Amino acid sequence: MFIDTHCHLSKEDYEDIDKIIEDNRDHYIDKIIISGCTRDTIVESLELAKKYDEVYVTIGYHPSEVLTTTDDDLKLLKKQLKSDKVVGVGEIGLDYHYGKEDIEQQKELFRKQLEIADELSLPVVIHSRDATFDTINILKEFPNLKGDIHCFSGSIETARIYVSMGYKLGIGGVVTFRNSTLPKVVQEIGLNNIIIETDSPYLAPEPFRGKQNSSKYLPLVADKIADLYDMPIEEVAERLKNNTYELFDLR
Ligand code: NI
Repeated sequence: MFIDTHCHLSKEDYEDIDKIIEDNRDHYIDKIIISGCTRDTIVESLELAKKYDEVYVTIGYHPSEVLTTTDDDLKLLKKQLKSDKVVGVGEIGLDYHYGKEDIEQQKELFRKQLEIADELSLPVVIHSRDATFDTINILKEFPNLKGDIHCFSGSIETARIYVSMGYKLGIGGVVTFRNSTLPKVVQEIGLNNIIIETDSPYLAPEPFRGKQNSSKYLPLVADKIADLYDMPIEEVAERLKNNTYELFDLR
């Protein structure tokens, strides 16, 4: 019934990945899209996509990898992106949360990967933290791209800009947090512009906030959205699934 459009599933975080995937099946998770965003997790996620029918992947170098990612890595990435069940490039983007020393290198790595996505006509999965202005301006240089603003938590004004540029908002556990302003944005932006994700192992929804997240908690996010739209969960799940299929060209 549900698709987790963005999660990280790696030996680094989980002892028993087979068990996690089995568990997902018991919680109505039909498909998951793993984001491999470091040299090692790119390889690991591609292997999982080969092994499991329900696993798809997006791959690309996270801004946190900016100082160690080489041109050879990007050359290899371009080849890896042509593998079976790769549905997008990412997560890629800008992260100014930890300081701005490497801001120019981040922009360069971001642009290089957007160029690759453009060339291969793949959607992009965007990580943007404390960097909204630069993210929007760089994405505007690539008007043919579409994608997912992963873990969106900005204002309604920012949401509208992204949507007008052809992007969907990836909504996760934050929408369930008390005092979050995200529910109002989700209500106003319209169900057509939303997809859902866990970003596990991070950002577990209530009542599991602070614990290790997993795709099996995704129904809690869908439930919250169903509440906000006053719609049956089945109908919301169907609409979100259609949005996801369209964006990532799944079938
Ligand atoms: Ni992520």
